[in-house]
Amino acid sequence: PRSPQDTWKQMAGVAAANLIQEGMVVGLGTGSTAAYLVQALSQRIQQGLQIVGAVPSSQATYDLAASLNIPLTDLDIHPELDMYIDGADEIDPQLRLIKGAGGALLREKILASAARRFVVIADPSKKVTQLGHRFPLPVEIVPLAKTPIKLKLSKLGAQVELRHRDNIPFITDNHNYIFDCTFPQGISNPAEVDAQIHSIVGVVETGLFLNLAQQVVIGGPEGVQIFPQ
Ligand code: A5P
Repeated sequence: PRSPQDTWKQMAGVAAANLIQEGMVVGLGTGSTAAYLVQALSQRIQQGLQIVGAVPSSQATYDLAASLNIPLTDLDIHPELDMYIDGADEIDPQLRLIKGAGGALLREKILASAARRFVVIADPSKKVTQLGHRFPLPVEIVPLAKTPIKLKLSKLGAQVELRHRDNIPFITDNHNYIFDCTFPQGISNPAEVDAQIHSIVGVVETGLFLNLAQQVVIGGPEGVQIFPQ
């Protein structure tokens, strides 16, 4: 049986799919909420909506979108997206995000930064007052540099775990590793933490999405709320 949370994720995905208009180039996120968006977009296309194309943020989303007959394109053909829609792991009141639980943060951030409008879709559990309390910050790194990077991240106050899947290091779509970084005090200054981590050579990208999201669509027990309207 489906949980209420799944229903709320689906409500957000459907509402965001309804924001997509004729002739758009759209970016498609990764994760269980984004999967509902992809399904809803496929239904709208079946009902006659014509988009120029969709750019997936991961191999998983590529496979899902292709299986649902969504026309696909890429950033070389369409370097600007009209809209990027994706889930998040944490959303603060200023629409700053932590992303990367699915391991697709680098492509997600590339698409978010290529989009005129980035819409976040979520259920209420993703809302936080401060980033970094509920969810560790994922940091994508070049595997060769894992030990020096781990040391430097520890010096910034993080508890650093190399992400594993099936007892071996998790490899991203870009053949990198992910460090999940827990900041025991939370992340009170996301911009500063992001800059400090980016200054470490071998760090590819962080899961802090700052100044990128324009809107959030939250599905919940009271229906769908879009902020700002
Ligand atoms: C993928 O790398 C993440 O950034 C996802 O956006 C995030 O994990 C949300 O996934 P769910 O919608 O499954 O919670």
